[in-house]
Amino acid sequence: MSATVTLFDKTFRRSISHEQLIEAISRVGRQITLDYAHKECPLFLGVLNGAFMFMGELLQHIDLNCEVSFVKLASYSGTATTGKVQELIGLSKSIEGRHVIIVEDIVDTGGSIDHLYQLLTVHHPASIAVATLLFKPSSYNKTYKIDYPALEIPDKFIVGFGLDYNQLGRNLKDIYELATE
Ligand code: IMP
Ligand code: MG
Repeated sequence: MSATVTLFDKTFRRSISHEQLIEAISRVGRQITLDYAHKECPLFLGVLNGAFMFMGELLQHIDLNCEVSFVKLASYSGTATTGKVQELIGLSKSIEGRHVIIVEDIVDTGGSIDHLYQLLTVHHPASIAVATLLFKPSSYNKTYKIDYPALEIPDKFIVGFGLDYNQLGRNLKDIYELATE
């Protein structure tokens, strides 16, 4: 894979290799497997579109009977958060009494995860935990604990492994960060 990619008007530089991603995801998968060993059939709830690659890899490192589902909650249209969070689409099955693990691509300000957390809580799950491929601790402004961050990154806009810039870049197998001009 090349060291830089161009998406529309922007250049991105490779910052996290595929191997580093897989290693971090397998660590999270092993930890979740240990933590949920004695809990009844957890439900992995992926947040589309960004979490599809992380979910696919993470589940290969989960050694538990579990269920998988996806919801949609979009809040981004460019390189800056809009502050507007949309409604939850796709929660077709009851999560009452279930151990839910939210699977996110990235937690930035925490706005999306906070909103999703509130929307899920009203359905009375047994528990909610958050697994995210990437976590930007310096821009996170919520108090809720992020249970399973695979990798912590600085506050830079990134693409790849499911994450996009205006819908492009999701197919990249490594993570690329916006190159400063
Ligand atoms: P938050 O609500 O600020 O935590 O942002 C969460 C959502 O914004 C993520 O689920 C992503 O869809 C998107 N997002 C945040 N940071 C980035 C980034 O660096 N690249 C691409 N998407 C991002
Ligand atoms: Mg997202």
